[in-house]
Amino acid sequence: MRAVLAPEPGGPDALVVTELPDLEPGPGEVVLDVAASAINRADTLQRMGFYPPPPGATDVLGLECSGTVRAVGEDVTGWAVGDQACALLASGGYAEQVAVPAGQLMPVPAGLSLIEAAALPEVACTVWSNVYMVANLQPGETFLVHGGAGGIGTFAIQLAATLGSRVFTTAGTPEKRALCESLGAERAIDYREEDFVAVLGEAGGADVILDNMGAKYLDRNVQALATSGRLVIIGMQGGVRGELDIARLLAKRGAVIATSLRARPAAEKAAVCRAVAEHVWPLVAEGKVKPMVHAEFGLDEVSQAHTLMDAGDHTGKIVLRVD
Ligand SMILES: NC(=O)c1ccc[n+]([C@@H]2O[C@H](COP(=O)([O-])OP(=O)(O)OC[C@H]3O[C@@H](n4cnc5c(N)ncnc54)[C@H](OP(=O)(O)O)[C@@H]3O)[C@@H](O)[C@H]2O)c1
Repeated sequence: MRAVLAPEPGGPDALVVTELPDLEPGPGEVVLDVAASAINRADTLQRMGFYPPPPGATDVLGLECSGTVRAVGEDVTGWAVGDQACALLASGGYAEQVAVPAGQLMPVPAGLSLIEAAALPEVACTVWSNVYMVANLQPGETFLVHGGAGGIGTFAIQLAATLGSRVFTTAGTPEKRALCESLGAERAIDYREEDFVAVLGEAGGADVILDNMGAKYLDRNVQALATSGRLVIIGMQGGVRGELDIARLLAKRGAVIATSLRARPAAEKAAVCRAVAEHVWPLVAEGKVKPMVHAEFGLDEVSQAHTLMDAGDHTGKIVLRVD
């Protein structure tokens, strides 16, 4: 099978399409013939040598995919050869085949193509697990998601708005802010010119914040929280070491939480996938939450796909077609 590796750390040209042996499923695993994968920011970090896969996972890049079941291992129930599925992966999606624990497979939401389905597992699992399972966002509460035009942001805006929250977001250009508001954000804030703390202050504060910036926004995110607000940090685009004003957090009875999906045990990922299939896929099937595919590339064009991700001009997801 063909697969993408980054044998030497570097820029997009460090990615190499190579031949690897076909895969056999281990106990509890399914092997998929991959139809499509999608690019994540974590993949660019892995390519640069900063974010290796967890122990035991393949060095082939790719945190999500869609495809057709090719082989089923011992002890797997509920999946048969020929079924279509999408999957949350620790790695391995940029390949013609991937082996995945059966619990991390999800059905393709009704009405979606395999290309669209490849754009969903990582954003759906990240947003549902953090915003709903961890931060417990409720209808009527106020939600701030930073980077509203990105893969995570476009999904989070749609989901939270559909489920009845007031949604605020930040984005870098007028076009991206217009997109965010068309997806359901009450207000998209210009993170270069405006102060999101002031905007959220006028709205009564954020009950939940989903943050991609880390250190750079830590203090201002705590300022933007409402009483009993929950700040969930999932990205470090603004650095890893910040200063936390505990007095301010304490006065708000606030919470600061940081999570990573990739390194969680398979049983936890399976619980997230089950919850996504139960709570999110019906909203996708109804068209209330749509996959946002900005661009598609073939496996041989993987360097171009990473160049686009590095430039940051995209909105939503960049998909890698494999078949
Ligand atoms: N912890 C986890 O389990 C987990 C899982 C998945 C993703 N993530 C993280 O979540 C983040 C978003 O992922 P993604 O796939 O959505 O990436 P993406 O599509 O590349 O989006 C990145 C976003 O960052 C925004 N941004 C850049 N500078 C900003 C600033 N100063 N203030 C606010 N926003 C800013 C960009 O906004 P503009 O385009 O408007 O400039 C863009 O929307 C990444 O940091 C990723 O590593 C974490």
